[in-house]
Amino acid sequence: MKISMSGTLIALSTALDYVESEVFGVTTHHSKRVAYLCARMGAELGYSPKELSALAGAAVMHDNALTEYIAARRAMDNSFVFDNAELGPHCKMGERNMRCLPFYESVKGAVLYHHENADGSGPFHKLAAETPQFAQLIHVADQVDNAFHLDDVSERKYEEALKWLEANSGMLFDGSLFDLFRHAVPYPELKKIEGNAVLPLLEEVLPDYSPEYDSHTIISFATVFARITDYKSHFTSTHSLGIAEKSAAMGRFFGEDTDTCTKLYLAGALHDIGKLTIPNEILEKPDKLTDEEFAVMKTHARASYEILKNLTDIPDVISWACLHHEKLDGSGYPFGKTAAELNRNERLLCCIDIYQALTEARPYKKGLSHDKSIAIMQGMAQDGKIDAGITEDIAAYFKG
Ligand SMILES: [Fe+2]
Ligand SMILES: [Fe+2]
Ligand SMILES: [Fe+2]
Ligand SMILES: [Fe+2]
Repeated sequence: MKISMSGTLIALSTALDYVESEVFGVTTHHSKRVAYLCARMGAELGYSPKELSALAGAAVMHDNALTEYIAARRAMDNSFVFDNAELGPHCKMGERNMRCLPFYESVKGAVLYHHENADGSGPFHKLAAETPQFAQLIHVADQVDNAFHLDDVSERKYEEALKWLEANSGMLFDGSLFDLFRHAVPYPELKKIEGNAVLPLLEEVLPDYSPEYDSHTIISFATVFARITDYKSHFTSTHSLGIAEKSAAMGRFFGEDTDTCTKLYLAGALHDIGKLTIPNEILEKPDKLTDEEFAVMKTHARASYEILKNLTDIPDVISWACLHHEKLDGSGYPFGKTAAELNRNERLLCCIDIYQALTEARPYKKGLSHDKSIAIMQGMAQDGKIDAGITEDIAAYFKG
């Protein structure tokens, strides 16, 4: 199956940018700006287009494990708040996730060491000479964007950022990086990436190719996406992966070919990626949501579409994933589609999502048994909301 690497990285960066803005209060498009600044510095260093693409890819992914780490801590202590004093674990988890990416070998260590300081005061006490160059570039770009919110830039802010980089030379950053940043990113270049303008500029530097991947590679890649989404809240820490596995299993049950089953896995892994845009107070609320909160919760389905629409090589995966809250009678969301507009796999994802959610525990309920879950789904099928045949197939396939 062919998948556009640049489209995938743009989708992933959009998803990750929501996480960083919630956790750190950084402005939107943070990871895209980090990737773009890295690419400018890499170009100044004479990197080849392939190296630049790999660097931009690693930069987009620098905080891919933030949700996973925070969820792991919150599972033990619900009041846990991320703190800069403990930067090592998300670096380790992020590097482990990077191993699932097809270009990992060329970006080894870039995520693991993206918080190392030149004087050895970072989480793994590496000096600049011991830190891979990609990691050092990501560190500079990440820290300067965190400190100066480069979504809007003035000449004064630019000068202040340069002064800050110079003042931290030899401590946070290797001495050579101040000059590199200054030459690679003159004020007009930084001004160019304000607001949404960074997106087309980043697309220009990301690799424009759609390699053919085998199903094993796609599944491990999809698992990274699923983990990022699932760990947004520890209450849903297996939701997307469970749906990915069950959707692929039902595809096999229906006699679909390997490619289609892999796409079903991918759709399951990606379907709730829009939940990254929903505040945790709503995702983890122990009581029933108010009407206003539920309206916010519902926006995740359209957000999934906004994030995934960049995966232009796999439009069927986008629709299977993003229509999972549509109902046959037109009462679903976000598009209010009706039975005539919903194909078998779109209906399947909807049914699997309901089955998975019913059987899982939530802050306000315990997980239901298979039989109770199926009884509820049969009621929904009788009401004309979901597909009755698929409900019976799920009932038979997953019965004890
Ligand atoms: Fe980080
Ligand atoms: Fe960051
Ligand atoms: Fe959903
Ligand atoms: Fe879901």
